[in-house]
Amino acid sequence: MKLSKPQQVISNDSTRFRIIVAGRRFGKTMLAINELAKHCVKPKQRVLALYSTFGQARNTIWPDLLDKLYDKNWIKKVNQSELTITLKNDSKIFVKSADNREALRGSRYDFIVLDECADLHKDVWTTICRPMLADSGGHAMFIGTPKGKGNWFYDLFVKSGAEQEWNSHSYTTLAGGWVTVEEIESARRDLDEREFKQEFEAEFQDYSGVIYFSFSEDNIQPNTFPVEQLRTLHIGMDFNNSPMSAVMGYMNGNKLNIVDEIEIYQSNTYEMIQEIKRRYPNKNYVCYPDSSGSFKSTNSNVSDHTILANNGFKLVVGKTNPSVIDRINAVNSLLCNANGERNLLIDPKCKKTRECLIKHTYKPGTRQPHKEGNTDFSHMNDSLGYLVWQNFGIKRDLGKGYGHTRRSL
Ligand SMILES: Nc1ncnc2c1ncn2[C@@H]1O[C@H](COP(=O)(O)OP(=O)(O)O)[C@@H](O)[C@H]1O
Ligand SMILES: [Mg+2]
Repeated sequence: MKLSKPQQVISNDSTRFRIIVAGRRFGKTMLAINELAKHCVKPKQRVLALYSTFGQARNTIWPDLLDKLYDKNWIKKVNQSELTITLKNDSKIFVKSADNREALRGSRYDFIVLDECADLHKDVWTTICRPMLADSGGHAMFIGTPKGKGNWFYDLFVKSGAEQEWNSHSYTTLAGGWVTVEEIESARRDLDEREFKQEFEAEFQDYSGVIYFSFSEDNIQPNTFPVEQLRTLHIGMDFNNSPMSAVMGYMNGNKLNIVDEIEIYQSNTYEMIQEIKRRYPNKNYVCYPDSSGSFKSTNSNVSDHTILANNGFKLVVGKTNPSVIDRINAVNSLLCNANGERNLLIDPKCKKTRECLIKHTYKPGTRQPHKEGNTDFSHMNDSLGYLVWQNFGIKRDLGKGYGHTRRSL
């Protein structure tokens, strides 16, 4: 494998502990393969590539690693179930996951790669990997895409600047040379600014404070389309008992117009349906509910989903909810993408929705939204989030391309 220029720069760096912060599809994992193989030129080496889960290990590095070693004709034996490879010179390559910590402990390694570092727990390095390198004086390489400043990968990156045996390298996706400018431009349209900077420009973003930072008063625009003429009404719904909430709107090309909101206290799904039908009779109702509504009901023996379906609502919902972060990202990028385009327009009468978008914050130092007491501005945003994610959310595919698909109706 011929390395790209930046991959070569990193590979030439002989510092004991190297940190590589780079955008998606920069070529981090391919570089990891190169470095694992390089360390195995010497006989009887033990090298390890570590992932947060077994699935990630098997899907991310394993096939390409095998290909590369078969090409070189180095392989003596492969254990497919344990993801280990013994080479002809008796060096061994282990691909493991940190979710089975006990199985990791105790071994000596000459070189360890921690891939997609931000997904690993910080103890994995300090309490497990670092001791495994002590006897051998072994090296380590930390690679990943940033995941906010609250993540240990950021601390490691910052610390590396001040420590003797450490060095760091940072590159954008574009600098890697494997993703076209067109694909990067497409990502810029799909992602909000903060996410784009993080995923493609490898900048650590600060996620403290307001969640919907993309929102501005420019998102508030009076709806001009006569709602009586709408055939289909799209409804995002959250089943809290108090308040039960819903936002309603329509699709207009790649835009979503929210025309109305409902918030009812001490209520139930029947009342919500009645209210929607009273305000907007004789529509096709397409509802995007909280997925947990399939097994419990706010106020009945029948599930909320069944009640909605029995009342003629078409449900668009998965078995589980999208991750909170994915849902928030989808709303932020629709509010304003990295190109500055606002594709989520909200009628001024949706005062609660506006307030929730403005006031909802993360708990300090985390990416956990506040959800309690008088800082709970989650309910309208949850309703909106289900609707937005199902139609505009990005499903990441860590396999090919930079990897995203949009769902649409
Ligand atoms: N040195 C290389 N030679 C050939 N192709 C490469 C090389 N480095 C990266 N690539 C290509 O770029 C894609 C993304 O690389 P990968 O290492 O998976 O990126 P990352 O881990 O940074 O997301 C690979 O699937 C491969 O097609
Ligand atoms: Mg990778």
